[in-house]
Amino acid sequence: MFDAIALIFAFHCNHCHAAPPGTSAGGLDTSSHQGLMAGGGMGRIILPGDASRSLLMEFLDGRRAKRMPLDAPPLKGEEIAAIARWIDAGAREEAVPRHLLSVAFQTKAAFTVVCRVPARAYLRLIVSGKNGEMLHREETALREPGEARWPVVAGTRWPRQAVARVEILFAGAAARQARLHVE
Ligand code: HEC
Repeated sequence: MFDAIALIFAFHCNHCHAAPPGTSAGGLDTSSHQGLMAGGGMGRIILPGDASRSLLMEFLDGRRAKRMPLDAPPLKGEEIAAIARWIDAGAREEAVPRHLLSVAFQTKAAFTVVCRVPARAYLRLIVSGKNGEMLHREETALREPGEARWPVVAGTRWPRQAVARVEILFAGAAARQARLHVE
């Protein structure tokens, strides 16, 4: 059940609510179960087992002046209902199916990470150094089958060797045909 809910957040909320820590809108991270449970600047938005008292629902059904998703059409009735059912059932986390690709490369001042997926998908890019230190992180909703391209400018202290890792969510079996390279 959570993977269907996470999909709704991925396509409608994460581009504003999964920014690097400290910059996500309203202090809320909708890209992880932990973030949803922690809530934002207003405090908790989900009361597991009780959708009717969960603030999140007020943001989705228009009871709040700033209806979410902000500046976009409201979620469909069935999507809002699915979120309410998930909260009423305990708002539990279940593993979201994901597929992982990685490629090592020599860093340059500027480069582009390219990931091709023959399906709609939600992608998380993490570039790290040899010792696992995180250098760069981005998330993208690929709304049509095709290519996600991430232009990256390297920091002055970046190591010569790095690894680009992409987590592919919600693409189903098509994720196995995904390809990743750096140009
Ligand atoms: C275009 C950007 C954008 C999108 C898309 C968006 N939001 Fe927001 N959201 C905001 C902004 C900006 C605020 C802060 C509003 C304020 O503080 O007045 C906010 C605030 C919130 C809050 C209140 C957080 C708090 O504690 O203050 C919730 C809950 C929320 N959004 C949920 C969602 C959900 C769920 C979605 C997807 C269905 C969504 N938002 C999509 C921009 C967005």
